[in-house]
Amino acid sequence: MIKGMLILEEPIWARFWYPVALEGNIGSEPVRRTLLNHPIVLWREPDGAVVAAIDRCPHRDAPLSSGWIEDGCIVCPYHGWRFDGTGALRLLPQSPELSSLGNRYEIQTVNARVLHGAVWVNLSRPVAEIPAIPSLQPGWRYIPEFDEEWETHAARLMENSFDPAHTVFVHRKTFGDGRNPAVEVPSLEERPYGFSMSNRLSVANPDFARTVTGDSGDYTLRDTVTLFFAPFIRVMISTYPAGVVHAIVTAATPVNEHRLRLVQWVLRNDREEDAPESELVSFDRRVTREDRELLESIWAPYSSEVNANVHMRADRASIALRRLWGKISAGTWLPETVEEVGEDGLRVIG
Ligand code: FES
Ligand SMILES: [Fe+2]
Repeated sequence: MIKGMLILEEPIWARFWYPVALEGNIGSEPVRRTLLNHPIVLWREPDGAVVAAIDRCPHRDAPLSSGWIEDGCIVCPYHGWRFDGTGALRLLPQSPELSSLGNRYEIQTVNARVLHGAVWVNLSRPVAEIPAIPSLQPGWRYIPEFDEEWETHAARLMENSFDPAHTVFVHRKTFGDGRNPAVEVPSLEERPYGFSMSNRLSVANPDFARTVTGDSGDYTLRDTVTLFFAPFIRVMISTYPAGVVHAIVTAATPVNEHRLRLVQWVLRNDREEDAPESELVSFDRRVTREDRELLESIWAPYSSEVNANVHMRADRASIALRRLWGKISAGTWLPETVEEVGEDGLRVIG
């Protein structure tokens, strides 16, 4: 065991809510996900609610996610037992006359909710509500982006997401402004849900970035407020000089100790006619691919000990992240949920 690794099997981590899928990806088939090493199956009930359950049939352990949905129930692919959204066995086809077989015949459901265009799951007794991340406001649009697994620790993507110094290098082919790698040291403010970071960055603005920025020059300025919702959500609200706001919600949901599921969507204050969704997604795809390639190339195991690495002034947020994760592990920090509406109309909490 590496000293300072986040031990995600500690029960505290299971008590947070995590986005496990974009809502649009849960349709008429069961969907498999893994959260904190627990295989889970998701499916939709006829009223649109999403059910989450441990992906194991009590009969012979078959994964229910390989089955199908009938009458709002999940059907096990092995012998066809049928379970409803409460987890109860509704039909045992081999003995259809049997009913109420008792709770040993149930599947284990877990907390699931649809909110903000994502499906959120909590495997245990929640320590708090689903965080009050910025939600869709009138006149804004929701753009679903990514729902995929990466071979890196969730904490590494969070550190990367609060790291203003990497853009010049990792994103040199997209928006990194290579003229000046010295970055402003970001300012951080503690918040009841984590912290917020503000910074201003000069960014390159090549042709394919102009839909995103709403600007036509070769370079532009990005004013960014980045919110950290512990333990693994980043909301980056970037405002460009033309008044366009591009807010990216990035959830690095821990699949296990070395993999994450990226669930990402965007909120924008303009319209499809101003900036086609396909172009916005394709730009963010390029950028996330750059981060992914770098992060997946790191072979060393992740340690959240502050002293496990050396730092520079611009790493202030990474250090704050490590300290906060340490407190969560130690059981000395819990989030609070407070809502307010920011000046730009996006709901933020303070
Ligand atoms: S394993 Fe599921 S019905 Fe037999
Ligand atoms: Fe990046």
